[in-house]
Amino acid sequence: MTKSVLIIDFGSQYTHLIGRKIRELGIYAEIYPPKYLNNVTNILNHSVLILSGGPDSVLNKNSPKIDIPLDKIPIPILGICYGFQYIAKEFGGVIEKSNLREYGKTIIKINKSNFFNKTKSDQQVWMSHGDSLKEIPKGFKILAKTINKVPAAIYKKNIFAIQFHCEVTHTEFGSQILKNYLFEICQLKQNWRNNDLHQNIGRYFKINVKEKKPNIVCAVSGGVDSTVLAFAISKYIKIENVHFIFVNNGLLRKYDVKNIKDVFKTFNLKLNIINAEHLFLKKLKNITDPEHKRKVIGGLFIDVFSKYIRKLDQKDFYLAQGTLYTDIIESRSFHGGKSVTIKSHHNVGGLPKDLKFDVLEPFRELFKDEVRRLGLFYKLEEKFINRHPFPGPGLGIRCIGKVNKQRLDTLREIDEIFINFLIERDLYNKSWQAFAVLLPIKSVGVMGDERTYEETCVLRCINSIDGMTADITVIDINILSEVATLIINNVSKVNKVLYDITTKPPSTIEWE
Ligand code: XMP
Repeated sequence: MTKSVLIIDFGSQYTHLIGRKIRELGIYAEIYPPKYLNNVTNILNHSVLILSGGPDSVLNKNSPKIDIPLDKIPIPILGICYGFQYIAKEFGGVIEKSNLREYGKTIIKINKSNFFNKTKSDQQVWMSHGDSLKEIPKGFKILAKTINKVPAAIYKKNIFAIQFHCEVTHTEFGSQILKNYLFEICQLKQNWRNNDLHQNIGRYFKINVKEKKPNIVCAVSGGVDSTVLAFAISKYIKIENVHFIFVNNGLLRKYDVKNIKDVFKTFNLKLNIINAEHLFLKKLKNITDPEHKRKVIGGLFIDVFSKYIRKLDQKDFYLAQGTLYTDIIESRSFHGGKSVTIKSHHNVGGLPKDLKFDVLEPFRELFKDEVRRLGLFYKLEEKFINRHPFPGPGLGIRCIGKVNKQRLDTLREIDEIFINFLIERDLYNKSWQAFAVLLPIKSVGVMGDERTYEETCVLRCINSIDGMTADITVIDINILSEVATLIINNVSKVNKVLYDITTKPPSTIEWE
């Protein structure tokens, strides 16, 4: 039997990336919650144990643990972030709550070793932790320290631990470090081939859809994921009984409805558009709390959907959704670990019980870049595929404070000016996501001889690979100033423009 790398999910937002990175290196990896090791014999199915990061502190009494003492584990171990501290604590190291919280990019200085083979002596890593290792455990050696002189990588025999996240793209040599660890130190051989994505999707439908002409309702949001899903369905399924439904919730940008209509037209697929703007705006009136907004918007989608489906009178059907791995992990821990809820992305959990349906989510293990590759394979236009992501709750979560037609229209104006400006300056494709946010904060300004007292908008432009971490896009201040002037001159309801310069973490990409 081929043994896989076992990743224990202590609840980090990035656990799934570890699995993906390892599979990309050609080694099969599986993710399980800590309780998987309650059965000690399970460890025998694996070649290496990786302990993931997590939001807890190992100093907390109830922090997640595995049942087996680490010194009884007969295979090599690699601890990442929380896993690093877990190893250090278990072997007698001293962890202390630190005032020096480290989030984001840090430089580490390494000692030469196989572990850091083919990397630089000073290198950028991505940190996301509060507690720090004060005293390393007995018998362990330091492989790298941060510039604050805090141990960042330690090892003893075949137990390695790193404080930083090697699985995120912002760690300069993350893949090389994993490669060194798995191939050189653990001496693993490749045992996994990433099959073509579209074959996997085909297989998904074969396993999950038994009927020849299934009844499928597919929720289309206008974004890349659900549109690619619609095309995937049309490739693998006889679409006579497939309904592609698009809800116009009034929280869309100026160009969204037209764009999605055009795409479906090009491929001769029928799109059913439900206009529900009035309903959404009525229910959102006076709601300002971000999670409340998300819940209300998610709930309304479900109401509108249920109503439509009831009218179709399809007793048993499949509900297809373009849910990505990122959507799941930020709502809850996919593999039963302990991730905290960052934001509630809406899902179908709330559909009424009298509707009998099975959910189809063929992309639930995929990341955005993988879905984009799939879209290109289906011959969707590159311009559409490379569109920036747009969240399900739309401008509702970019209109900070009250959501009403007037503020939404203002935001739509700003968004259009900003996005067109980026396209004209060839900056749109150089960032992963760009958008505007409207703040309910007024300031005094002067236009001509007039005093103004209007709201503030924020421009956000970030770079990312998968939305899990993000860096800001560096735009020349003069260019930013130009677009600020353009916005203020054309949109009467704002008189101040700010640029958001926070990375994720500690921020998230959207504001709410
Ligand atoms: P955050 O703000 O969580 O966003 O850093 C990560 C990525 O996810 C998008 N996003 C959403 N997408 N439904 C979606 O389909 C949602 O509720 C949602 N919330 C955030 C966000 O735009 C970014 O690309």
